[in-house]
Amino acid sequence: PEKVIYDADFGIDDAMALILLARRPDVALLGVTTVFGNAQIADTTRNALFLKDYLGLSAPVARGAAKPLIGPTPPPPAWIHGANGLGNYPVPVPRAALDPRSAPQLIIDLVRAHPGEVTILAVGRLTNLATALALAPDLPHLVKRVVIMGGAFGYNYQGQRSGSNPFSVAEANIGGDPEAADEVINAGWPVTLVPLDVTIRTVMDRAYLAALPGKDGALIRAITRQTYVNAQGSMPVHDSSAVFYALRPSAYTTVEGVVRVEPGTGPAAGITVMAPPGSRDPGFARHGTVHVATGVDAPAVLAFYAQSLRD
Ligand code: BDR
Ligand code: CA
Repeated sequence: PEKVIYDADFGIDDAMALILLARRPDVALLGVTTVFGNAQIADTTRNALFLKDYLGLSAPVARGAAKPLIGPTPPPPAWIHGANGLGNYPVPVPRAALDPRSAPQLIIDLVRAHPGEVTILAVGRLTNLATALALAPDLPHLVKRVVIMGGAFGYNYQGQRSGSNPFSVAEANIGGDPEAADEVINAGWPVTLVPLDVTIRTVMDRAYLAALPGKDGALIRAITRQTYVNAQGSMPVHDSSAVFYALRPSAYTTVEGVVRVEPGTGPAAGITVMAPPGSRDPGFARHGTVHVATGVDAPAVLAFYAQSLRD
């Protein structure tokens, strides 16, 4: 099985992706780490512990960053993920205990225990991974690959989905901590970005959600009941797309190039830009290439998701 560390800002689609990971016999989930983003860190961590209970996970859950590398904690997008991160679903008080380590330390320990074997799936702000890199500069040589749900390349996201994304033009996971994102994307480990360009073309609608089987389907309907599903009755599949890519790469087309993230706090902060390999633009010099997903067989990955759930 694929050895996985799952780093997420436990909102609705983060939870749906963890359900998929937990149900796949071809995945060995080594650890779960939390980060601020879709909700405050206390809420995303509580949601992760609730899911550990619900899914019967043995993997440790460790709490991560409460704010980006630079600057204050931004207000979470409650209109997307509810006030508690799970669409105002009444999350029970978790029984599972938190791992005493920080998220970056758990990541470092797990990667060092399985050198060359771990896939890191990062579907929130990349703050924990940037901190892990600062603490353990050997990390890039020890990780098998990093698959990130993040970035937007083809267009201005806000223009496509008015009022939905909390950022003006950037994708949330990158725009929420652009300095961390640029470090993680360019750390020299094998990186694939699964950006908004493909995740918004992977869409679940009310009929799809209604047909999801078992108790997993019931929980997914409960957390998507109040928020997340848009006025047209559909929802983009962001975070599960990173899992799909990791487990079913043939469902995706990709391109290779150098990706940089615009830093700072201005209107362009968090924009992801790509140059072809060998670009002479000095802004891209000395940076290695990464892969970026550009196309998806959406019916195939949607069928894969539904087939993986359990009663
Ligand atoms: C990303 O932002 C969050 O709202 C989602 O969980 C996803 O990781 C999409 O831009
Ligand atoms: Ca997320």
